[in-house]
Amino acid sequence: MSDPTTTPRSEYLLEARDLKKSYENGAIEALRGVSLGIVAGDFLAITGPSGSGKSTLLHLLGGLDLATEGTVLFRGQPVGKSQNGVAAIDIDTYRARWAGFIFQSFHLLPALNALENVQVPMLGTGSHRRDREERARALLVELGLEPRLRQYPNQLSAGERQRVAIARSLVNNPAVLLADEPTGNLDSVNSAKILELLAQIQERHGTTLIMVTHDLNIAATAHRHVAMRDGRICD
Ligand SMILES: Nc1ncnc2c1ncn2[C@@H]1O[C@H](COP(=O)(O)OP(=O)(O)OP(=O)(O)O)[C@@H](O)[C@H]1O
Ligand SMILES: [Mg+2]
Repeated sequence: MSDPTTTPRSEYLLEARDLKKSYENGAIEALRGVSLGIVAGDFLAITGPSGSGKSTLLHLLGGLDLATEGTVLFRGQPVGKSQNGVAAIDIDTYRARWAGFIFQSFHLLPALNALENVQVPMLGTGSHRRDREERARALLVELGLEPRLRQYPNQLSAGERQRVAIARSLVNNPAVLLADEPTGNLDSVNSAKILELLAQIQERHGTTLIMVTHDLNIAATAHRHVAMRDGRICD
């Protein structure tokens, strides 16, 4: 397996080539051929009606699932399966090392406190306990959660939970941050705060941000916006 940091073969950080995803032996076609190139440092918004394939696309771009047909390329290297003689980057390595995820419903582990939740993606990376804790603490402090380090998810507000989830998504310093309706469970005040935070992270850390949203006002703050319909990009 070659190292994607030393073998750049593409102008894109992340590229989707004719992605198709079907379920139930082809009865459901969630994606019907999506091609997209995302340059490093970009902020891309994806909108579209419910069921149009937004989450499916995000999952494939983040290595959470494999396409039925087509390829995701990270720095020119196919994710999961080699293509045209170009060796693949292992999908688990890609997801763990290069991609960070933020979900609408946070997906924090209820039995772990904030500091422990943030460290979860670092387990299995061979890092030392003290380094893990320091890294998690620094991110939580950066996100304004210093007084909440030892609280459990059920002791945090929704906005605070999402900030813990954002810290977790950043803990391995990902190249690309994928957010699936990150403000979908938040009130307008917390939504605005979370969006500002993501924009800051994107600028400060140079992280590439791909965000699914129903909100056209949010999409308008992105550098680029694609709309989906029926498993395809429609603009
Ligand atoms: N695991 C699955 N098994 C079967 N069908 C699925 C599965 N996951 C998604 N689908 C179907 O694929 C289509 C696209 O789903 P997807 O979740 O990507 O839509 P979405 O645009 O994210 O919608 P929403 O805005 O409601 O989140 C839908 O018709 C959905 O029912
Ligand atoms: Mg969705």
